[in-house]
Amino acid sequence: MDIRIEPMTREQMHEMYQDFQMDPMIFDDMELFEMAKNYVYNPEKTDMLYDMRIAEEGSHLFAVMLDDKVIGEVGLRHYSDETKECELSVHMMNDSVKGKGYGTQAEKLAIDYAFDVLGAESIFTESLIKNTRSQHIMEKMGFKYFGEEEGFKQYRLEKKDRV
Ligand SMILES: CC(C)(COP(=O)(O)OP(=O)(O)OC[C@H]1O[C@@H](n2cnc3c(N)ncnc32)[C@H](O)[C@@H]1OP(=O)(O)O)[C@@H](O)C(=O)NCCC(=O)NCCS
Repeated sequence: MDIRIEPMTREQMHEMYQDFQMDPMIFDDMELFEMAKNYVYNPEKTDMLYDMRIAEEGSHLFAVMLDDKVIGEVGLRHYSDETKECELSVHMMNDSVKGKGYGTQAEKLAIDYAFDVLGAESIFTESLIKNTRSQHIMEKMGFKYFGEEEGFKQYRLEKKDRV
């Protein structure tokens, strides 16, 4: 089944976090994951998070939609006409929607948006060294590894290399 992405509304952000589950792959320190894993939805914090994300300059936040349901979020951050680069981030809502190809599809749609709508020439992304699932997808999309910083592997996709 195909998914789509659309600019995230406040209501969609709430839908996302009402059923959100933390993922151990984004925690280097498993003690922190143990503390965070029983995530409890908080409407006020979700509103604050939405306001913060929307206010970020050069930020484009999308809801990943399967039919009429939110199943994740994908972001293109810090885009500027000077650098013509943005940063890709993605998080699916919970385990029930992971491992079904949706994350890969969402990343592809965001990459297309960055190059074809924003006019980006390159996209940066990074993931924790242990997050081999994310790295596998990035490499499939044509991202090239270029280094490590503070425990993260860093990748860049040039427009000419998009898959
Ligand atoms: C990363 C994420 C967006 C991927 O979305 P998804 O829907 O779960 O992934 P998909 O089903 O589209 O694809 C997973 C791919 O990784 C592969 N994979 C799964 N586990 C893996 C692992 N431990 N190591 C390497 N590859 C792995 C799968 O085989 C599949 O590849 P294939 O299609 O070539 O067979 C999602 O898992 C997620 O939200 N994770 C938590 C947040 C996160 O890590 N964000 C990214 C970096 S900050």
